Amino acid sequence: MKTILIQLDTDPQPSSFDRVVAIDAGIDELFCYGGVSPESVEPLVHGAMFTRGPADLKHTAIFVGGSDVASGERLLERVRKTFFGPIRVSVMMDSNGSNTTAAAAVLSAKKQFGSFAGVEALVLAGTGPVGQRAAQLLAAEGASVRVASRTRDRAAKTCAAIASQVSGGKLSPWSTASDAELRSACEGVHLVIAAGAAGITLLPADVRRSIGSLKVAIDLNAVPPLGIAGVEVMDKAVERDGVMWYGAIGVGGLKMKIHKAALRRLFESNDQVLDTAAIYQIGQRLQ
Ligand SMILES: NC(=O)c1ccc[n+]([C@@H]2O[C@H](COP(=O)([O-])OP(=O)(O)OC[C@H]3O[C@@H](n4cnc5c(N)ncnc54)[C@H](OP(=O)(O)O)[C@@H]3O)[C@@H](O)[C@H]2O)c1
Repeated sequence: MKTILIQLDTDPQPSSFDRVVAIDAGIDELFCYGGVSPESVEPLVHGAMFTRGPADLKHTAIFVGGSDVASGERLLERVRKTFFGPIRVSVMMDSNGSNTTAAAAVLSAKKQFGSFAGVEALVLAGTGPVGQRAAQLLAAEGASVRVASRTRDRAAKTCAAIASQVSGGKLSPWSTASDAELRSACEGVHLVIAAGAAGITLLPADVRRSIGSLKVAIDLNAVPPLGIAGVEVMDKAVERDGVMWYGAIGVGGLKMKIHKAALRRLFESNDQVLDTAAIYQIGQRLQ
């Protein structure tokens, strides 16, 4: 039986990026819908649920995407509520590449540290969709995670949101609005992940050089100026100045592998929900 992926995108035009990855992952048939909202999604989900017999439902799956991650989360929730009993299909959510990118960043760091026990991690712009997910995964792995933002309040809200998902997570909110605050947030950290908006430098060279404890620096911003001064966008475990560097494209290769592996996983059973943690686990098995 043919595999069918139903791509539900919250943007008016379904993402061409997600479509290409679906084809490269070997999906037989790809149905793409744009402008999908929680209010309009039910018939599309019913079309997935009520067409194939129970034993064949695993050959149909849903992908939730789009540039707005909060809209994607709401859509995923509505999709899940539409299922009942065993009448369901597997679903993956990766709006704006947030889950696959965060998983690739944290797995890149894990390759260097082996274990995150005792690791002090700083996630710059840890309030955005990618940063929050990276912080969540690091906390779940046992790192002490400093979540940084231009606004301490936003960082505190993010820590609270993550703490509700990761019991026992070691999280602290930091403001990096001023140079002094940034330096203080950086003190003693072993890992920095910069997850700021495109084209924004979050960690200038002089501050970065002052972090004697720094072992791994990962920047997810591919648009110059880059997020960490000193990173090269193609860096992939490149050692410079005693630091292991990863740039956005360096991390991107693993992100693509994780995305394709997660899509393939959807078709192994009809009851999976591939969210941040599940996508990370899939990435772990690729390492
Ligand atoms: N390599 C890949 O495959 C890949 C895939 C997806 C995304 N990305 C990249 O990953 C990064 C994070 O993505 P995202 O969607 O989470 O980013 P985002 O939502 O655009 O921004 C993340 C955070 O950046 C901070 N920020 C925004 N404007 C700023 C400014 N002018 N100055 C300083 N900080 C600012 C904000 O944090 P506060 O307001 O709390 O300070 C915001 O929450 C982006 O650079 C994106 O391009 C890479």
